[in-house]
Amino acid sequence: MQNINMVDLEGQFLKIEKEVMDGIRSVISSSTFIQGPAVKAFEKNLAAHLNVAHCIACANGTDALQIAMMALDLKPGDEIIVPSFTYIASVEAAVLLGIKTVFVEVNESTFNIDETQIEKAITPKTKAILVVHLYGQSAPMESILATAKKHALFVIEDNAQAINATYTFSNGTTAKTGCMGDIGTTSFFPSKNLGCYGDGGALLTNHVVLAEKIKMIANHGQKEKYHHDLIGVNSRLDSLQAAVLNIKLKQLDTYTNTRQEAALLYDSLLKTVKEIEIPVRAPYSTHVFHQYTLKVSNRSGLQAYLKEKGIPTMVYYPLPTHLQKGYQNLGYRKGDLPVSESLCEKVLSLPIHSESKREEITYICEAIINFYQHG
Ligand SMILES: Cc1ncc(COP(=O)(O)O)c(C=O)c1O
Repeated sequence: MQNINMVDLEGQFLKIEKEVMDGIRSVISSSTFIQGPAVKAFEKNLAAHLNVAHCIACANGTDALQIAMMALDLKPGDEIIVPSFTYIASVEAAVLLGIKTVFVEVNESTFNIDETQIEKAITPKTKAILVVHLYGQSAPMESILATAKKHALFVIEDNAQAINATYTFSNGTTAKTGCMGDIGTTSFFPSKNLGCYGDGGALLTNHVVLAEKIKMIANHGQKEKYHHDLIGVNSRLDSLQAAVLNIKLKQLDTYTNTRQEAALLYDSLLKTVKEIEIPVRAPYSTHVFHQYTLKVSNRSGLQAYLKEKGIPTMVYYPLPTHLQKGYQNLGYRKGDLPVSESLCEKVLSLPIHSESKREEITYICEAIINFYQHG
């Protein structure tokens, strides 16, 4: 078996090489590096693809979260409800802005925020709920939006891992993840389902006033050059990255299908292994499989065995946010969020990407089965 990687960005690039190089050349030859036409086109194209009114590109997904909180006027002392079982960026921005993060458990099966736990975390200081669509599947948005409405809270959707996933409401209407709350944020980190060749991010919203404010905050708080009406940041998507993203966006549905087919193959080969739980699909969401994440027993043994066979695996995430050393002053201790803490000991992500091959997945699954039979 040839080299197996968690993602295969080189293989992906080879299929779109000419278009990408032409796009990059066009930005360089026109010297439109910052906020050029490629960025404007990408914002328009992504908004159309996701059926959302406004898309504002920025420098990365972490900035997008910070800008979202600034645009919603979240202030020091305000509280935001966040799942602890997530990537650190989801809380980093809040903490830097002096906003108090109140952690809520995730659902043990879907890995997404447990909607039944949100209401009891609300206090008079709560201003927003930050939802993370983890691993590529939507959080239970209908219930979250209803709770937010009841308590007049904002909803921010961190969609860094689930771009192109579709949520179905109980009345049958659908929406893309990142486009249902007040503001959605996303990341174009290279390994993301829609990734560029460096850092990149975007904010999504259906509110025109918020869109204007976001645009200003991401560009030093200015609308008119050198007139800074708001306190902002310098967080713009490079035109070179936008040129790449314009090309990759055209492939996003194909990339998503390949990931979904790979996931189905994994499912069919692993579903009878009793030491493993394959990813649970929520009935209200499609899954775009940013990660194919199992719950496994004897994780370290399995990881070491697979490594010997040339199979990489990853643990997203080995430690929940509330137990991270840098965040101890938030006042949480081991035992506060047992579901999140226990998931950190069980989850294991297998290689999945836009270039995933049947033979590769078969080889990986045979090795897993072998480990539990003889390991
Ligand atoms: C859930 C989540 N939120 C936010 C981010 C931050 O994105 P970026 O790396 O572009 O800052 C990531 C990226 O890994 C992520 O997975």
